Amino acid sequence: MGLVLGIESSCDETAAALVDGERRIVAQRIASQDDAHRPYGGVVPEIAARAHAERIAPLVAAVLQDAGMELGDLDAIAATAGPGLIGGVMVGLVTAKALAMASDKPLIAVNHLEGHALSPRLADPALQFPYLLLLVSGGHCQVLRVEGVGQYRRLATTIDDALGEAFDKTAKILGLGFPGGPAVERLARQGSRKAVPLPRPLLGSSEPHFSFAGLKSAVLRAKQAGTHADADIAAAFQQAALDCVVDRTRRALADSDGLTALVVAGGVAANQTIRAGLEGLAGEFGLPFVAPPLALCTDNAAMIAWAGQERLALGNFVPDPLDIAARPRWPL
Ligand code: KG4
Ligand code: ZN
Repeated sequence: MGLVLGIESSCDETAAALVDGERRIVAQRIASQDDAHRPYGGVVPEIAARAHAERIAPLVAAVLQDAGMELGDLDAIAATAGPGLIGGVMVGLVTAKALAMASDKPLIAVNHLEGHALSPRLADPALQFPYLLLLVSGGHCQVLRVEGVGQYRRLATTIDDALGEAFDKTAKILGLGFPGGPAVERLARQGSRKAVPLPRPLLGSSEPHFSFAGLKSAVLRAKQAGTHADADIAAAFQQAALDCVVDRTRRALADSDGLTALVVAGGVAANQTIRAGLEGLAGEFGLPFVAPPLALCTDNAAMIAWAGQERLALGNFVPDPLDIAARPRWPL
């Protein structure tokens, strides 16, 4: 009942998914562009936009075919409208507009961060508002109080790098290639987290924010010193990052009342060490800990379709206009 098509193209994954009102992911496909960006050690916006443009239409057709559905079977078409690499966002949003126009179905322009913020509710029907969300991805590192659909209060953000960015830069320094986060996590398993002294920026600070630039520079110095094993640097970095994340989230939890859960989402939420540390923190506050399954942490279209479902279910739903603009920046 109630089928929403989701489209995601804000970074380097081209993705389409169908999600129904009972939280079933009826079909989904993700085309990763890792191979296209690997030679450059990071996502190249122009290459990403072109790859999205080539792949998006066949991907949507394939998802509909997988589900045995047609455009006419949809209740709405949701697409990421920002924030992200603007060329890619435009490809996905324009595709959604064309499909909405052709099928006379409502368009839902979704904030990518809202997709991440609501993704835990796709996987866990029991998760109620308000919850404290740690949103950690390649572009963002924020603590949000999620009061309801469309009601997000930002309590903290990073003053320099995002957490995923710190993982990616560490991977680059250690020559681990791209994408960096999972590679750092793998190598860290073979190292000692105490072997390399690294700073923990803003630890214990009375201000709420995050900072990772100093940690990244220290990783570079440790590598350049030539006296540490790469695995030890990776493990020490991951531990320092975790300590920062737990400390900053603890500060936010201490200031926030009436919460139902501590929730983590975004690409870095796929990291097992980060998950385990946050689970322990939730326990300190007697709160349930919720983290989406790994495939829903990194960029995907099911979370965009789900954000569309949540908007549809609000009751006072109004479709977005076909001239709505793609936005490179769009704070929640
Ligand atoms: O949410 P996401 O897929 O894209 C953005 O919206 O940014 O997050 C991607 C980020 C990248 O920085 C990637 O290195 C990081 O998430 N990441 C991880 C892991 N898997 C992905 N970081 C640490 N450990 C992981 N297992
Ligand atoms: Zn994302």
